[in-house]
Amino acid sequence: MAITNPKKVLVCVAWPYASGDRHLGHVAGAYLPPDIFARYHRLAGRQVLMVSGSDTHGTPITVRAEEEGVTPREIVDRYHAHFLENFRDLGLSFDLFTETDTENHWAVTHDMFLTLLRNGYIYRDTMRQLYCADCQRWLPDRYVEGICPYCGYSDARGDQCDACGRTLDAVELGQPRCKICGGSHIEVRETEHFFLDLGKLNQPLLEWMREGKEHWRPNVLNFARQQLESGELRGRPITRDIPWGITIPVAGFEDKRIYVWFDAVIGYLSATKEWAKITGNPEAWREWWQDPEVPAYYFIGKDNIPFHAIIWPGMLLGYGDLNLPYDVPANEYLNVEGKKLSTSRHWVIELPDYLSRYDPDPLRYMLTINAPETQDVNFTWEEFVRRNNEELVATWGNLANRVLGFAYKRFAGRVPQPGELDEMDKALLARVEAGFDSVGDLIAACKFKAALTEAMALAREANRYLNEKEPWQKIKTDPQAAATAIYVALQAIDWLKVIFCPFLPFSSQRLHEYLGHEGSLIGRLAIETIAEETRSHQVLRYDGRGTVGRWAAERLEPGQPLRQPQPLFHKLDESVVDEEIARMVGG
Ligand code: MF3
Ligand code: ZN
Repeated sequence: MAITNPKKVLVCVAWPYASGDRHLGHVAGAYLPPDIFARYHRLAGRQVLMVSGSDTHGTPITVRAEEEGVTPREIVDRYHAHFLENFRDLGLSFDLFTETDTENHWAVTHDMFLTLLRNGYIYRDTMRQLYCADCQRWLPDRYVEGICPYCGYSDARGDQCDACGRTLDAVELGQPRCKICGGSHIEVRETEHFFLDLGKLNQPLLEWMREGKEHWRPNVLNFARQQLESGELRGRPITRDIPWGITIPVAGFEDKRIYVWFDAVIGYLSATKEWAKITGNPEAWREWWQDPEVPAYYFIGKDNIPFHAIIWPGMLLGYGDLNLPYDVPANEYLNVEGKKLSTSRHWVIELPDYLSRYDPDPLRYMLTINAPETQDVNFTWEEFVRRNNEELVATWGNLANRVLGFAYKRFAGRVPQPGELDEMDKALLARVEAGFDSVGDLIAACKFKAALTEAMALAREANRYLNEKEPWQKIKTDPQAAATAIYVALQAIDWLKVIFCPFLPFSSQRLHEYLGHEGSLIGRLAIETIAEETRSHQVLRYDGRGTVGRWAAERLEPGQPLRQPQPLFHKLDESVVDEEIARMVGG
């Protein structure tokens, strides 16, 4: 059933593999939307817990380590550090961004494993696994490629087919190839493992999927329902013959490890527990996972749908007494300059690279106004420059600038005292005030693109109002009329600052200061070290204590002293387009 106006909202964000930098596709798909969502709900007075962390296990990490001749931990340390800095600089307000190689996460994973085992949802069986005769080693998922048994795609990975989206078992692949040596001397050998009994969970999952999912995106819902209605869910191995990963808490399995996907999804729960411990109230995690009135949203890219719409809910059902996902607003893909992003083919714009040259808000704007919510989208540098110049600078930035600049110069650096408001003044204020509902409802429904489009429409209204009122002319003949118009416009941008804040936090904070307010609208993000018994790790934490903004039309006081305004955004030169494309082609 729908949860309306919750007091708390749990915001779960896909855990990035710490095997490479995040690129714009990841940001648009999984990282930026939850931040907009979280910032909005906090402004609206709700408690938010937004968690994620580095996914430190699995073959993406070990493949990378082997390529570079370093340990998996060295790879994790490098990229985890990048994530912390880049996410902070992009303003992603994680209440906790941690990692999976912590004592806490190991313990929560062991507990989940043993509880599912005890409850009869994990069983032991022998399975057939691929073994490369030339390399003399087991070939887990990503070490093997072959033909997808469902759709025939020729380069399906051992764990998943990127063409049809199904999760796979490596032995199902047709004509398997070893990714280490490139050879095809691959044998199928027997090995003993643990399995998650998805067959047993099929019916309970189907019942869950049939009720109250009207707010789900059609692509996610159709995918999950089709899988469940086929009634074909089978047990899936959740352990592997690999040396890197979380140990199996059962005697006799010392040489094997837990499969990365099984532990990664548990991260949502373990991170909540870690957060609770850090804040000094270890039991507080229950408020986020055991109260049915607290919705849990999972922000992911579409390649992660099976794990979040079927497997993780199945694990939660089997464990018992924990909330299942309330929504899984998965996004489609972002292409760049018409081509699919690919790190291996060097067709990427990585986050550290972007942030070294540009401000965060223009990217946040671009990836939201053209968000891949219902279909794949295409990012071009030409559009980035055009939207920055014509929309951010010319519409929203220019509105704020001319009102503030004029007020600062002509009204002695203070918010002027308005006279009586006329119909036009009232109409503008009513229209912007209504934006708190219209934009807020769209954000709450995870329609971020529509929400930002609506916010921009409000800024355009305010520009039109000023063009009509022309306070810069009026001041010569009717100073009171000019003061009223400037007051109304200042009030409008003071509200718009809040409405834009979830999308464009950095510029909203600056505007907040130019308008003469004190305090932080957007909170602070800090990288901290957490010491556990045997080792320590770094985390990113949002601190929203003392933030001042509210998602509501608060009155701007006449007479309030303004601060010397600066432009909110900067025009980008057209040459950026060719430069950036050359950089990608050359990269
Ligand atoms: N590490 C995976 C990826 O980057 C996502 C894991 S999401 C989680 O595709 F749910 F498993 F945590
Ligand atoms: Zn091989």
